Amino acid sequence: MKHFVNLKDISSKDLKKILIDAKIRKKLRKKLSTLEVDKGAPLKGKLLIQMFEKSSLRTRLSFYLAIKQLGGGTLTLKSNELHLGQGGESIADTAKILSTYGDGFMLRTDSDKKVEHFKKYLSIPVINGLSPSSHPTQVLSDVFTVEEIKKKSISKLNICWIGDSNNVLDSLIAASVKFSFNLSIGCPKKFEPGMKVRNWVKKNKKKIFIYNDPKKAVSNADVIFSDKVISLNDKVNKKKKIAYFKKFKINKKLMAHAKKDCIFLHCLPRGNEVTDEIFLGKKSHVWQQALNRVHVQKSILLYCFGKLR
Ligand code: CP
Ligand code: NVA
Repeated sequence: MKHFVNLKDISSKDLKKILIDAKIRKKLRKKLSTLEVDKGAPLKGKLLIQMFEKSSLRTRLSFYLAIKQLGGGTLTLKSNELHLGQGGESIADTAKILSTYGDGFMLRTDSDKKVEHFKKYLSIPVINGLSPSSHPTQVLSDVFTVEEIKKKSISKLNICWIGDSNNVLDSLIAASVKFSFNLSIGCPKKFEPGMKVRNWVKKNKKKIFIYNDPKKAVSNADVIFSDKVISLNDKVNKKKKIAYFKKFKINKKLMAHAKKDCIFLHCLPRGNEVTDEIFLGKKSHVWQQALNRVHVQKSILLYCFGKLR
């Protein structure tokens, strides 16, 4: 049994194995319809319990399809409908019950500590479906999408992030170390990545490049990623924060400073950080990116259940 909480804690070898499996599985599904089960039904009889403390569209649906296509089933809980969410039951007891009824647990929460607590008390694998400091399933899937579109190893590409130093960026930074790719970050000085993640990069003998000028950040980029300026967990003055990011909006003019064949990716949902022209334009691959969550999360589930080929 393995947990999937932070990319930082998983070896490069295992992350790469997950992507290889996802590539094979995606190919094999070409002729199958949405709910048809993969040959061999590797997770037949398994129940994945999902719990959301924050809104979600993609994570909820993609995990539903992922476990179904592997032959298992899922049940989705809202924490405010449980005793836990009402303050009437401990994480320890909730975790014991989840482990009694289910085989895996996927959690989206506003507390990193909570993920760690669940990890401590569960005897089934836990998957982080987004926490304040991490969105690992999204980013591993994004590495898959980049390699699928660019048809080369991400280690040979210049990846650029324009936006806030949030959970998705934290996981992207972790991925840049695990997969050895160049990562440039464009953001206002006030919203640069924190020392904790920067020190972790240093400790791992890698480098990330941070610019307060978006043109410098995108220069020579093969891929530009962005995300909402205001995240689910942000308790800030929204108007003020958005104003800081004004010159970081991704538009045609900014994209022109990147490589000619640069692509645009975004985990969704979006705000005003990108123009419609770019988001819905030819360089954007956001819908393919969203769909790939299903394929990669299937292999993440198999990794957690110890069934990765
Ligand atoms: N990208 C993503 O995680 O989307 P949801 O918040 O809709 O799950
Ligand atoms: N950074 C965003 C990602 C949403 C999928 C958030 O945490 O809201």
